[in-house]
Amino acid sequence: MKETSKEIQEQKQYIQKIKDIIKNENKTYSILTMGCQQNENDSEKICGMIEEMGYIKAENQNDVDLAVVNTCCIRENAEERLFGKLGELKHLKEEKGIIIAIGGCMMQEEHITKKIKQSYPFVDMLFGTHTLHKFPEDLYKVLDEKRKLIDIIDIDGKVYEGLPIKRDSNVKASVTIMSGCNNFCSYCIVPYVRGRERSRMPKDIIEEIQQIAKQGYKEITLLGQNVNSYLRVEREKNIEFEEYKGINSFATLLREINKIEGIERIRFISPHPKDFTDDVIDAIAECEKVCKLVHLPLQSGSTNVLNAMNRKYTKEQYLNLVEKMKAKIPNLTLSTDIIVGFAGETEQDFEDTLDVVKKVEFEQVYMFIYSRRIGTPGDKMENQIPEEIKHERFNRLKELVESQISKNNQKYIGTIQKVLVEGKSKNNEKMLTGRTDSNKVVIFEGNSNLKDKIIDLKIVSEHMWYLKGEVDG
Ligand code: SAH
Ligand code: SF4
Ligand code: F3S
Repeated sequence: MKETSKEIQEQKQYIQKIKDIIKNENKTYSILTMGCQQNENDSEKICGMIEEMGYIKAENQNDVDLAVVNTCCIRENAEERLFGKLGELKHLKEEKGIIIAIGGCMMQEEHITKKIKQSYPFVDMLFGTHTLHKFPEDLYKVLDEKRKLIDIIDIDGKVYEGLPIKRDSNVKASVTIMSGCNNFCSYCIVPYVRGRERSRMPKDIIEEIQQIAKQGYKEITLLGQNVNSYLRVEREKNIEFEEYKGINSFATLLREINKIEGIERIRFISPHPKDFTDDVIDAIAECEKVCKLVHLPLQSGSTNVLNAMNRKYTKEQYLNLVEKMKAKIPNLTLSTDIIVGFAGETEQDFEDTLDVVKKVEFEQVYMFIYSRRIGTPGDKMENQIPEEIKHERFNRLKELVESQISKNNQKYIGTIQKVLVEGKSKNNEKMLTGRTDSNKVVIFEGNSNLKDKIIDLKIVSEHMWYLKGEVDG
């Protein structure tokens, strides 16, 4: 048996021990997930473990026995959110003696854990990104030995298979294919808190997706900080890995998943433009289930800024890549991430970003104001941009993006779109909501038994962030 499977077996014994402690007591839990889709996927695994212990997800957040927060530290505002939440939890701790466990990326930052130990001593358990699989053992020690526990390591965690998982949706599933990042973009904290790139083995991924398909899931999103370098480290360093059905790269992985019966849509985030090789472009073009919306993070349209960011491509290379992809992949649309106000960004640099946005006409743009992260090279750069200029540029970018999106939305009106129905709309109970292949939200009136189905909808109007549709015929 692999060493990692032995470790998971051990954790399953701890799950059983906790089950014996809390049995028949109707114990409840809550979880607050603060980060990206990988963080959400980690939360699904935490929920999987907790529910196997016998805890039930609480209806009321203020009445729980176990409160878990899964943190993110990509931008500064996450810190304010965590400390705000800890303030709230303090009352629950005092009133009801609940157990508080904080995990995730922020726990890999020493200045944060120090602050929690000093200012929030009532927290019972801290766990990091490399010790997630030990959640049962750590919680058991807190419950049984009634002691505070900190379980954070700063080495690259291993790849663990076979953790229970409680997925948020019945129709869309996320599947992590790799963890960590080797790119060290100079603004970014992820390589420091998630460690180096490690890929899951092809067989484990394919078997997970086959099982998901059997359970009725129709859409899967492959997750990784740099998905198109899947198995790259292994290939480059000649590290032996178990090949399965000819899978030895991201492109071959896509092609194999495309064959899995029951799966109708395949998405992935995030690829890195510098690694977008032709075999991946061909696989997207040729695999009918791979959605023709590709997320291609730009970060900046200025070659100078891209250089300072350590992104390893120029404005022209990005635009050429987009041209090549559009030529090879019929009906391709793109979404992107942009950071405004990175150190040293001049007005001319910013205008280069606007220029790329005008040229590419993205389907969706996720815009961020640069946030200095302790420990990254960007934080030490001297030419930081004043906050008011960052905000002013952000607003100009937002205006351009919004005008493009409402123009772009017009192309949908009168068309028939295949929509995967997700359920009731959060904002309007009487309406259903779903998404097109290009990930646009569509709201429509319909029978609730349409949930989880892919149906044809006629698009009748656009409302910037969503479209309105009607059941066709
Ligand atoms: N691995 C992914 C991104 C993960 S973080 C990728 O390379 O695309 C998601 C997004 O957050 C990034 O694309 C970037 O736009 C933004 N981001 C990362 N660090 C940031 C920072 N310090 N300030 C503002 N935005 C940041
Ligand atoms: Fe961060 Fe860059 Fe890695 Fe993405 S590729 S996680 S932005 S360092
Ligand atoms: Fe945040 Fe960690 Fe994701 S820092 S964006 S939760 S990888």
